Amino acid sequence: MIKTKTEFIRNKDTGILEAYRDGKRVGVITAMGDFIGDVELMEKVERGEQSKIRIMFVCLGNICRSPMAEIIFKDIAEKAGKANDFIVSSSATSDENVYNGVGAEVYPPAKRILERHGLSADGKRAVQLSCDDYDKYDLFVCMDNSNFRDASSILNGDREGKLRLLMGYTSRPGSVSDPWYTGDFETAYADIEEGCKALFNIYERCFKGENHA
Ligand code: 4NP
Repeated sequence: MIKTKTEFIRNKDTGILEAYRDGKRVGVITAMGDFIGDVELMEKVERGEQSKIRIMFVCLGNICRSPMAEIIFKDIAEKAGKANDFIVSSSATSDENVYNGVGAEVYPPAKRILERHGLSADGKRAVQLSCDDYDKYDLFVCMDNSNFRDASSILNGDREGKLRLLMGYTSRPGSVSDPWYTGDFETAYADIEEGCKALFNIYERCFKGENHA
């Protein structure tokens, strides 16, 4: 394998330290000093071995935070003309919102906040994460640490290192504000949007034609 030097450059707009290889942004350094970014995954896409990046957003119930993330991320990709480069879904660690195989709709206050931002949650129904999902997705992006632990257990561990925290992609890692307990859907929306933008910005560049400086 050819070793490429990694350079770290601070983004003037966001203040985030970003990692570049061969002029490509391959990750970010969070405020906690963690490196977030999947060079191997990006290289697979760049070599044409994989045509899409597959993202599963995960929360406890799949009726508030992870459906918001799914819908917001799809909108960001769509507006950037890159919807076809991603497969995006969301799921729950718990089975509380799936009754006899039928998932609940997005929680009405979450629907309303999405609508206020011009987005529709119509058709989205809760589904529970399953261990079969592990090979179907490249990244499992969790809203908080307990989702991370529960997802790891459902997925029988994380043998390929696919689990992430959404806010870990931003300059303020931690958990997405949980509107189920705070009632504050606007703050949850802002956290999720910030995380989704950061995640999208990292991965969008590895698709054909835009991966060279
Ligand atoms: P979510 O929110 O994980 O963001 O979908 C919740 C939904 C349901 C519950 C908790 C959080 N619950 O306890 O039923």
